[in-house]
Amino acid sequence: MPDTVAHGLLAGLDEIAGTGRDLRAGGYSRLLWEPAEHELRAWFSERAQRLGLDVEVDRNGNTWAWWGKSGPNAVVVGSHLDSVPGGGAYDGPLGVVSALEAVARLQAAGFAPTRPCAVLVFAEEEGSRFGVACLGSRLLSGGIDADVARGLTDRAGITLADAAATAGLNPAHLGRDQAALDRIGIFLELHVEQGRGLIDLGEPLAVASSILAHGRWRLSFSGQGNHAGATPMTGRRDPMVAAAHAIVAVQQAALASPGARATVGRIEAVPGGTNVIPSSVTAWLDARADTDDQARAVVADVSAQLQAAHSGCTGTVVEESWTGTVTFDPELAARLALALGGVPALATGAGHDAGVLAARVPTAMVFVRNPTGISHSPEEFATLADCLAGVEALDTLLRELL
Ligand code: GLV
Ligand code: MN
Ligand code: MN
Ligand code: MN
Repeated sequence: MPDTVAHGLLAGLDEIAGTGRDLRAGGYSRLLWEPAEHELRAWFSERAQRLGLDVEVDRNGNTWAWWGKSGPNAVVVGSHLDSVPGGGAYDGPLGVVSALEAVARLQAAGFAPTRPCAVLVFAEEEGSRFGVACLGSRLLSGGIDADVARGLTDRAGITLADAAATAGLNPAHLGRDQAALDRIGIFLELHVEQGRGLIDLGEPLAVASSILAHGRWRLSFSGQGNHAGATPMTGRRDPMVAAAHAIVAVQQAALASPGARATVGRIEAVPGGTNVIPSSVTAWLDARADTDDQARAVVADVSAQLQAAHSGCTGTVVEESWTGTVTFDPELAARLALALGGVPALATGAGHDAGVLAARVPTAMVFVRNPTGISHSPEEFATLADCLAGVEALDTLLRELL
């Protein structure tokens, strides 16, 4: 591995290491079109331009950097720069930095691609601002209705349409972008692994085989807001208590369905005062399982418990996003695994833009070992040696595909 690659990769990660730090949660909070995320995109554009790439932002806010002429039948390699609240340094950025580094390395070697190539940064992969994960790839591919997307709101009540306009996009143009999509011949995403798969295998790299079926549901509870001191315990209609029952039901439903995973990672009480019985509570459910039916059965189980209306409250369940089980193109995966000298195939429980695109174009992923096995947390990690193995892998795969 030439030393310049180590320096380039490190420089890339270092240059953004100070952007979007979350002093409360630790790690990074880089939410779509907020200042930190703007800064990261500006950084990406500047870096891509330094490599002589042509940068363009598509109708949905995804940023493309073309090496030579744009599409058709391009090999597109990319990931995302946004994060979950309090996320790690690698989820997303490692794929972007590695893609730029692989292109730089091919250029330095005088490699001449025989088909178009682009580095792509998707918008709002985590869904941390507007609630729908992989929003940029869903919009691009028509995986979400444009009107539904325009009406999504962030925590401050700002609609996606308004935020897009503020970010310089035309909200009327959000939605399926067939011309942009048609340029992709193959999509490739390198990503830090988010579980313990590669630790257990004792390997630095793997090619993705599948992604669990997964989705998000909004659980809403409504009761009677009232005074915490003046209201006797009997007869209260406290939606926080109803939500608490539901959260326990979420855990029990997943435990009863081997392999399923269900999480409530976010909850909001209105109005949210220590001495106020809330009038309403919203909790967001993330449920995942091996098959679509299994994931939906877990949610149906939770839903049935909600209908059993605890504490005199009403509860409703609304689906916010859904991605069925993804099986990556087995031929492409086998070809890439072979090109990498026989790396293992690995299934994942984490969602990715590659999973959304897989339904439309041949798509593959490369995972880089995460020695902590922890992700969506500041403890997410990848060693320099494994990151360099990832760049080397992208270099090899781009040579194979271009
Ligand atoms: C994104 O990383 C997800 O799997 O939620
Ligand atoms: Mn993530
Ligand atoms: Mn990610
Ligand atoms: Mn993800």
